[in-house]
Amino acid sequence: MAVNQLSLLLFRSLLAIATITSAVAGATPYLSPTTLFPNYQKMLTTFKIYTYAPPSQFTPTVTTQPESLFTTSLLASPFVTQDPEEAHLFFLPFHPDLPTRSLARQVRENRQNLPYWNRTLEADHVFLSLSGIDYSSDRNSLELKKNSVQISHFPTTYGHFIPHKDITLPPLNPSPLAHPHAPPANKTAMYLGYMRSDGLPEESSIVNELINDPDFVIESQPSDGLGYMGNSKFCLFV
Ligand SMILES: *[C@@H]1O[C@H](CO)[C@@H](O)[C@H](O)[C@H]1NC(C)=O
Ligand SMILES: *[C@@H]1O[C@H](CO)[C@@H](O)[C@H](O)[C@H]1NC(C)=O
Repeated sequence: MAVNQLSLLLFRSLLAIATITSAVAGATPYLSPTTLFPNYQKMLTTFKIYTYAPPSQFTPTVTTQPESLFTTSLLASPFVTQDPEEAHLFFLPFHPDLPTRSLARQVRENRQNLPYWNRTLEADHVFLSLSGIDYSSDRNSLELKKNSVQISHFPTTYGHFIPHKDITLPPLNPSPLAHPHAPPANKTAMYLGYMRSDGLPEESSIVNELINDPDFVIESQPSDGLGYMGNSKFCLFV
């Protein structure tokens, strides 16, 4: 995974935090060039992430899976700091397949042992969970689910993902999911993005802003035959 891709992921999570904490009214930061680009440049030089030592049972394996590429890119990146005092985010190197019970035990231990855990109710903590944590989890993992930034696989099951703070790792190519939606090889994409929003679009300011952008096609029901999906470079289902 290129550092650029990693930067974007991290930046997105930072923006999500900034959106919650600064409660800026008006345009979403994601779509504002005057907010996004200067902040992105600033992040490249100032953003710091502290990574905790992996728990003893955790043996990182170097694979070509998105999660291990993410972890190895992160650890080799200039964003890592050894000084927790200057960190914006804290990376919890949980095993990405950690069973819920082990996760809950880890959360209990962290609450007691990690000095930065309680400071923001772990909202500045990031962890990997491939399938994401569901709502039926116990109180400890639920706390992690609700407060920390979760990084999971694409596509994450509905209910295992909280849009304002969580991140999904982009699938690695070749992804079987990519093919049915990608424009055919000899076709030029007419739109930058196609978005299917099954929820209530009026509730999301980002959807409202994208509706007015000619680069995007947004619909709540697929309009078969119009070929919007096939004519778009990227597809997003929310
Ligand atoms: C964090 O808060 C909990 C109570 O909610 C407390 O039991 C725990 O000791 C605190 N952790 C630290 C490291 O101070
Ligand atoms: C390009 O697309 C057309 C349909 O628009 C199709 O008939 C043709 O076979 C395609 N050519 C290639 C090389 O894929």
